[in-house]
Amino acid sequence: MSQGIVTVSYIIATILFILALGGLSNQETARRGNWYGIIGMTIALLATILGVVERHFEILLVALLIGGSIGLVLARRVQMTQMPELVAVLHSLVGAAAVAVGYASFMDPTKHFDLPIELTIHDIETYVGILIGAVTFSGSVIAFGKLSGRIGGSPLTIPGRHWFNLGLLVGAIYFGYQFVVQSAAGNGLEPLIIMTVIALLFGIHMVMAIGGADMPVVVSMLNSYSGWAAAATGFMLGNDLLIVTGALVGSSGAILSYIMCRAMNRKFLAVIAGGFGTGGGKTVSSGDGEDQGEVLPVDSQETAALLAGAKEVMIIPGYGMAVAQAQHTVYEITKVLRARKINVRFGIHPVAGRMPGHMNVLLAEAKVPYDIVFEMDEINEDFPNVDVSVVIGANDIVNPSALTDPDSPIAGMPVLECWKGTTSIVLKRSMATGYAGVQNPLFFEENTRMLFGDAKETLDEVLKAL
Ligand code: TAP
Repeated sequence: MSQGIVTVSYIIATILFILALGGLSNQETARRGNWYGIIGMTIALLATILGVVERHFEILLVALLIGGSIGLVLARRVQMTQMPELVAVLHSLVGAAAVAVGYASFMDPTKHFDLPIELTIHDIETYVGILIGAVTFSGSVIAFGKLSGRIGGSPLTIPGRHWFNLGLLVGAIYFGYQFVVQSAAGNGLEPLIIMTVIALLFGIHMVMAIGGADMPVVVSMLNSYSGWAAAATGFMLGNDLLIVTGALVGSSGAILSYIMCRAMNRKFLAVIAGGFGTGGGKTVSSGDGEDQGEVLPVDSQETAALLAGAKEVMIIPGYGMAVAQAQHTVYEITKVLRARKINVRFGIHPVAGRMPGHMNVLLAEAKVPYDIVFEMDEINEDFPNVDVSVVIGANDIVNPSALTDPDSPIAGMPVLECWKGTTSIVLKRSMATGYAGVQNPLFFEENTRMLFGDAKETLDEVLKAL
């Protein structure tokens, strides 16, 4: 394949990636956006394999086959609730790839530069690529551990942690200088290895120090880092498509992190510095044994009666709806209520579930019409007019203490203020806390009713009763 065809293919792939991102920003066009991405990636892969790779095709094909098969099996097996963990694992692979390519590029015996400055530039690209790659790798592995519950969600606060971070940063800069100087003299492996260890440590510490409730920001931040790692690899390899694609992922991830921070009322730097929202006050109250008063349980018959008597219903889905896979039953109930001229709307919190857009994906899967699904900002003012709010497996996102308790780990996070409506019905299995590990005063409000049990099972009963 000629260089011209490769360049044209790369431009087409780039355009398709931009269209993919544009499509994914809206539910109605998301499916199309996905297809743009798939076609773009196929073109990019073919152009690279046929036009850039010069030899050892058999090794490449075997690697593609192994990687592709693992990806296929994983994607088929993964449950919707495990998606965030899978995303974290995939980010870690991007980081690992950037590190591997960086070392290979540094050790390449055939590399040749006409001018010393070219070598210096290449060395800086290699160093930065490995640095971002290693941070992405270890940070994503820890994020995977936290999201899958293998590592506790509470933030690790080592004494003088900001000094520790600063020390690592200064160390990385110092060894960067050493690396460039030594590389010019034909060495440099030692500072490169030391920096890699520093970067790995930084990634581990950065994510360990972040409180459970701030994980959404970390997930999108690592997404962004994986993009920058890919872009740095693109510079190392002189591959324009990789630079552009990496920059697209990096910048869209950065925008998403900003949106997440705004949704949680957090300052980006404070989240990265770690342990935000937990300083000084009580960290995480397990809450299980806390005496906050009585809760008022209801059964599915009473729930159906409350719904049937309402004019305005707001459904608030959370992580538990994903666990229970209750979205289809929720929509069946919605259809029954709408047929009885009851206005049913969905209120979506930006960090509901475990990944950005988690609830939207589930509701789209159940074919809930988009025009009754609203963002928190669009409907939070309406709660005083709502007769019944049905909180399905949600907890932190409807926790009033986020607004009233400055010591809470979720303090300051805007929440769906369903307690301002006439009645809230909360579906969950027990009095256990949500992701942030704090008890929820909503459950003890006078106008709250608790419908205990697996959300899918209880909603099936509600549907039958209706
Ligand atoms: P959570 O606060 O995690 O609450 C989910 C609730 O669902 C739990 O209290 C649980 O109570 C209940 N539940 C679990 N399985 C259930 C089932 N089968 N049937 C019925 N209920 C079930 O979820 P949320 O309100 O959606 O808030 C999201 C939290 O995750 C926030 O703290 C957010 O910061 C964090 N987070 C979000 C993201 C993104 S990007 N969205 C990423 C990482 C972390 P029981 O055990 O009693 O049933």
